[in-house]
Amino acid sequence: MNAPTMLAGIQLADPDLTARVSAGLVRVEELLERELISEFAFVTEAASHLMHAGGKRFRPLFTLVAAGIGPNPDSDDVITAAAVTELIHLATLYHDDVMDEAELRRGAKSANARWDNSIAILTGDFLFAHASRLVARLGPDAVRIIAETFAELVTGQTRETVGASPDEDPIDHHLRVLDEKTASLIDTCARYAGMFSGAPEEHVLALRRYGRAVGVAFQISDDIIDVCSTDSGKTPGTDLREGVPTLSVLYTLADPSADPRLRELVAGPIQAEADVAEAVALLAASPGMARARATLATYADAAAAELRLLPDSSAKEALASLVGSVVDRTR
Ligand code: IPE
Ligand code: IPE
Ligand code: MG
Ligand code: MG
Repeated sequence: MNAPTMLAGIQLADPDLTARVSAGLVRVEELLERELISEFAFVTEAASHLMHAGGKRFRPLFTLVAAGIGPNPDSDDVITAAAVTELIHLATLYHDDVMDEAELRRGAKSANARWDNSIAILTGDFLFAHASRLVARLGPDAVRIIAETFAELVTGQTRETVGASPDEDPIDHHLRVLDEKTASLIDTCARYAGMFSGAPEEHVLALRRYGRAVGVAFQISDDIIDVCSTDSGKTPGTDLREGVPTLSVLYTLADPSADPRLRELVAGPIQAEADVAEAVALLAASPGMARARATLATYADAAAAELRLLPDSSAKEALASLVGSVVDRTR
């Protein structure tokens, strides 16, 4: 028996699945490398910067694993689709770090910090253009799907930037933002995986709902890690510094009995590093954080419930392991 392989929180227990996914990831990486190339060497360098810095390749990995629910997981189109999802993701990271004024990404300097905002924005656009060129190989349906996904993703980023209106519940607003900015692309990974592996429609739909729920859970856990972890490859407390409210902060602000000092600190952007450190420590141990963890568990349970609608397979087991990992990585 081979020991299970763990990749980006997905446990691959079946050697055949591991071999298929590993071979697929190599092909995805080759495709990505090709799509980073420009006739202007500087553009190639800027576009390669975050790709080569690391990253989990979660979206292509998820796409390759999820394709195991269909009869034809090895198709070239699955590989192409997997690469497209990472290129889109990568493009959004360049732009997101400009908006969030982030310094660190994938353990390296963010593009805006290494060069400047203009270069980061232009490089994100270049990556998006090459993702569009690549997805054209998959036909008009795939092009429309990624276009709608990207529109939904940027709508979520915009909704987050604009903030909740006074008549909106801030928690509902926030969860909608997470669904749009993060889960939309995971949904599309699931959809591409099902489409291009030839899975039946009802299985694709269950897989997509699983992708949505796990996608929101993924972002909630990422936001918890921003407060509670020091080895994410990003600067801890970035959201607090920028005054980007995440779930634990919103629960704290909604609770009149929460620690008044914590409420004062998280009510807006935090400048002084000593205040960031104090807010991080108080928030990590707060009831608001406990509620955020409970909400994370709710999305994880919803994801697991969708998986039960799929026939048993090694791919389904691997997707089930992801549900546990998304929760566990916040511990
Ligand atoms: C970061 O995504 C942005 C979020 C949606 C939380 P990942 O956590 O997948 O980042 P990389 O690709 O590994 O850098
Ligand atoms: C990441 O959003 C970008 C998208 C989901 C499109 P965040 O700003 O919440 O994520 P990190 O923490 O910078 O990775
Ligand atoms: Mg960010
Ligand atoms: Mg952001």
